[in-house]
Amino acid sequence: MTTDRRDFMKILGGFALVAGAAPLIPVSAGAARSDFRSGPRTESPVAGLDPALGHILHYASLAPSGHNSQPWYVRLMDDQKMIIGVDPERRLPAVDPDSREAMLSLGAFVENLSLAAGDMGYEAQTEVRAGSPLEQEILGVTLRKAKPIAYPLKRMTLRMTAKHGYRSSELTKDDVDALAEPLGGRLFYFPPGSEHARCIEEGTVEAFRVQTGRDEAQQELVKWLRLSHEAAERQRDGLTTEGMEIRGLKGWYVRNFTKPDDFMKKGMRKKSVDQAARLVRQGGGWFVITSPGESVADLIDVGRRFERMALMARERGVAIHPMTQILEEEIGRSEIFSNHDSGMLPQFVLRVGYLDPYPDPVSPRRPVSWFLRS
Ligand SMILES: Cc1cc2nc3c(=O)[nH]c(=O)nc-3n(C[C@H](O)[C@H](O)[C@H](O)COP(=O)(O)O)c2cc1C
Repeated sequence: MTTDRRDFMKILGGFALVAGAAPLIPVSAGAARSDFRSGPRTESPVAGLDPALGHILHYASLAPSGHNSQPWYVRLMDDQKMIIGVDPERRLPAVDPDSREAMLSLGAFVENLSLAAGDMGYEAQTEVRAGSPLEQEILGVTLRKAKPIAYPLKRMTLRMTAKHGYRSSELTKDDVDALAEPLGGRLFYFPPGSEHARCIEEGTVEAFRVQTGRDEAQQELVKWLRLSHEAAERQRDGLTTEGMEIRGLKGWYVRNFTKPDDFMKKGMRKKSVDQAARLVRQGGGWFVITSPGESVADLIDVGRRFERMALMARERGVAIHPMTQILEEEIGRSEIFSNHDSGMLPQFVLRVGYLDPYPDPVSPRRPVSWFLRS
């Protein structure tokens, strides 16, 4: 009897279901837990660059970004002054046409930069240069020698977006208060089972379904998929098999036999909607983060505050999963705006939950020299 590819995928699906926890599958050891020979986020020195600046930019690059597109570039004016911009090739026009999310990611980048600079004895002074998120040069940053402000940089190397295995218990008040602190009153927590949580769950799945059905959005996702070891190692950005938590035998199969274009197929799209529908029901509820306005400065500021919060989450055993489709698709946005007053500007919708064990980061980063321009 021959087994064609579709049958094989079915078998795999069934196997994963039976096995429950994919890491138990013996081939997972041979299926290699890392897509990278040198580790996904290894720091490499840049010839001719002040090593302190190299460290600071490396930490900055550990920031999260939509589709892990790492939209930033850094143009050095001299050893202390730099311009931070958005690489047009790294925008996500199909899901983020206004570059709102690119600004949030840049905000997270600048927050890491600023905290790392402080730890190394510099103050990072930032100045917004762009009048619109669609411009290329967004911020000027000047580093000045200052008294060090110690910061546990390990938080940056260990921060990650985990998606599976959240416990369903509500977050404690202590954890919510601590994580909300950097957001200055703009973080709202909706525990599981609350009416708001239910609305977010339904809205997220619906928006996910609409987005997955939009060819241009799906094509954009395909552009950022790095399924094979070779693609992940060569490009060091985007969504790797491991980063999407496709593990064990399934991970091995996807790495070796699935092509990014397969994600355009109806069956694959349906699978990802089904997976989103399962995920929204797992976990300890939702955080929604709002901003007072939508200027470049507002968006950078909320990205910075989000990152400060995300950096503290692991120590509390809390995982954070941005599920952004509800803010990207008209169906989600109109639902939000028809039920809230116009001053409510949501910028992040985050699924949260306790996670134990908490995995180590796997999503890759480009080395500093790749995003540095002189
Ligand atoms: C603005 C923004 C939007 C994001 N939206 C999503 C999303 O809709 N779904 C998702 O699974 N992850 C989302 N993420 C998480 C990224 O995919 C993740 O940060 C990236 O792959 C890098 O992985 P890491 O966070 O583990 O370093 C988002 C992150 C940011 C900063």
